[in-house]
Amino acid sequence: MHLRCVNCNRRYEIDEVVYSCNCGGLLEVVIDLDKVKNVFDGRDITLWKYRSFLPVDERVSLREGGTPIYKLSDGVYLKNEGANPTGSFKDRGMTVGVSKAVELGMRKVICASTGNTAASLAAYSAKAGMKCYVLVPSGKVAVGKLSQAIIHGANIVQIKGNFDDALNIVLKASREIGAYILNSVNPFRLEGQKTAAFEIYDQLRFVPDAVILPVGNGGNISAIWKGFKEMEEAGIINKLPKMVGIQAEGASPLVRMFKEGGDFRPFERPETVATAIRIGNPVNWTKAIKAVRESNGLLESVTDDEILEAQEELASVHGIFVEPASAASLAGFKKLRKAGAIRRDEKVVLVATGHGLKDPDAVLRRSRPIISVNADANELIKILEEQRKPEH
Ligand code: F0G
Repeated sequence: MHLRCVNCNRRYEIDEVVYSCNCGGLLEVVIDLDKVKNVFDGRDITLWKYRSFLPVDERVSLREGGTPIYKLSDGVYLKNEGANPTGSFKDRGMTVGVSKAVELGMRKVICASTGNTAASLAAYSAKAGMKCYVLVPSGKVAVGKLSQAIIHGANIVQIKGNFDDALNIVLKASREIGAYILNSVNPFRLEGQKTAAFEIYDQLRFVPDAVILPVGNGGNISAIWKGFKEMEEAGIINKLPKMVGIQAEGASPLVRMFKEGGDFRPFERPETVATAIRIGNPVNWTKAIKAVRESNGLLESVTDDEILEAQEELASVHGIFVEPASAASLAGFKKLRKAGAIRRDEKVVLVATGHGLKDPDAVLRRSRPIISVNADANELIKILEEQRKPEH
């Protein structure tokens, strides 16, 4: 087991504290796949079931993974990552990343975040007894996520700028502060996140034609792709899915690159109601583009209105409450299916990345006024009857 640069293949030792190659390339963990165990039996699913695929021992866990998969309609499934301990898929990454921090003897951890990474790191570092710093874009973090970071005791700093500014500061200041970075530039975090691929196969007992998920920094799409490729290399599956990434229109630099070609160019002023993916300069863009191209996949953007409509549909038709960024999966799927880019006979898994309670304001801001009556049964009946009358 070692670290490898995805650009130049340079090798680094597994216990080096290093986040990128000297050439500037991103790093990935290379697992000894001849030593992995085929534990895929559709039973007893938790993330640590797949420990032979993971580069650390289980040291800090809140029982992450094992999230439900729902059938929305024929051939359309939803993997609900909001069911993780802090309500997002980040917990898969943090259990592995913080376990690695313990192994390295780190006392402090740090991240920049649009909210979920902060909430997750705050919880796992609390359990590990580590000091935690989180940098968030001022005024742009959903209230549920912020309250999680506060109650778990993180040191929170609001940056007068966006997520990309906050991450830049983390990358520059972590060494001075003496803190281990747990953003998705950390390859160990992505190792945890790749287990979503293992679970999708374990639960469905087949490999879907496409996996569709929201893309911000591009870490998760590359992690899940790595998970599928490792299962294939280990001889457990013999087919790979297309990886389909969805960005919000106002923060869609990867979609632009994919559709228009040319060099990668960031969005200077990313904007979207889906604050989780309000990212203009995805740090993992090379890995994300590679996952999409290698898998013969797609990148597509959706509007804020399409996102909010999909969020409402998931909640009011299927009973599943997800945060806006997560609803981008369904919004993108509907758009691609309408355009014929995903066929009706293709089996797809939509990944819902975070729980709806993370961002209650996104619902309350657009809800109709709630009726209020005196504590009187007759008054209630009268008002409900009036509501039933056809409007003139
Ligand atoms: N969905 C949700 C709910 C997220 O919180 C994020 C990222 C993504 C999707 C995108 O994942 O970055 O791996 O492409 N949230 C980060 C955070 C940026 O700070 O919580 P990605």
